[in-house]
Parts: sequence; structure tokens; C-alpha cells
Amino acid sequence: MTAPKRKVAILLSGRGSNMIALVEAAREPACPYEVVLVASDKPEAPGIAWAAAQGIATWTLSPKGIGKPAYEAALDAALRHAQAETIALAGYMRLVSDTFVAAWRGRIINIHPSLLPKYKGLDTHARAIAAGDAVAGCSVHVVTEELDGGEVLGQAEVAVLPGDTPDTLAARVLAVEHRLYARTLAEFVAR
Ligand code: GAR
Repeated sequence: MTAPKRKVAILLSGRGSNMIALVEAAREPACPYEVVLVASDKPEAPGIAWAAAQGIATWTLSPKGIGKPAYEAALDAALRHAQAETIALAGYMRLVSDTFVAAWRGRIINIHPSLLPKYKGLDTHARAIAAGDAVAGCSVHVVTEELDGGEVLGQAEVAVLPGDTPDTLAARVLAVEHRLYARTLAEFVAR
């Protein structure tokens, strides 16, 4: 008998290319997780339209006007309704509150476009180029109360090339993000 698949919810705010990579990896019979919900703070996020078109359950709510506590309470209810066990942040550009982290302690992971602990926060590629780094990359980490500060579960590196702009470097990093995230999420749910 094969082990039951772990139930993963994916949170995003935009394009959703990492979400797509995770969904496509989940289609492999041997993948240890299934995607039970794709949720967003941005109802107009392209990633939500893609997931809905695939027949994946989606949930969206804008925090604007209702405030973060009410928004996160509704998100929490949607995640529990979907029976999510693990939450994968994939370009989710909103800080999660300490209350939300505590409710899902150790069960939220995130992909961040730098080699942590370098360049927490925003504008990671511009900062790597400005620093003259020869190597950039991405990290998958456990989400804690500290921004981009939890246990690093996996990293992938790319070269920074002469003439790179933040956009060209971001594109090179994004390609390795997709592979790293699918592999690391599979390892994480199985551990
Ligand atoms: C990705 O590069 C991801 O690492 C980054 O946003 C992009 C989302 O792209 N996340 C962060 O910067 C989190 N602080 P996607 O929507 O195509 O997956």
C-alpha cells in the first residue's frame, strides 16, 4: 500500500510560477504531497486563475478594508477546511503575523530568492549585484517570526554573470527555484 499523500496548501500573491512547478511535480505518482488549495491575498493574481483552470480549489480575500487579523482568521479557516497539513509560500508577498506562525508552527515553508542568510527581505538580486557577488541563488526555509530567518531546508546556486541586471539574474534564479522548491517540499513533507 502506498502512503497517503500529505496535503499542501500554496499561498501566492502574483504570477505563481513556483506554484505551477509544485503542482506539476505533484502530478508524478511518486510525489509524497498533493495540492489541496491555492490561496491568495490578491484575488486578481494570475496564479489563482491558472490554479482554478486546473480544477484546483482556490481561495482569495483581500485584506484591504477588513484588516490583517480578520483576513488571517479567514485564511486559517480556509486552510483547515481544505485539511492542509503544510503551507508553502510561493511568492506570497505579505508578512505572516506571529499569531499565524504560532498556529502553524513548523508547518509553513517559503522560497526566498537569495542564499540566506544573505539578503533577507526585498530587492535581493539588485543587492547581490551591487555587492559584486559571483554567486547568487535561492533558499527554501521554515517560516518563523523572524523575516526569512527560519531553518534553511535547501539552497540552489547560480552564477552572477558580467552585465547581469536584477531582471536577468532573477530569471536565472527562478529556473532553479522551481526545481529546488519541488524537491525540498517533497523532502519536507516526508520527514
Ligand atoms: C520568486 O522569485 C520568489 O522567490 C519570490 O517571489 C517570486 C515569485 O515568483 N519570493 C519572495 O521574494 C518572497 N519574499 P512566482 O510568483 O512566479 O513564483
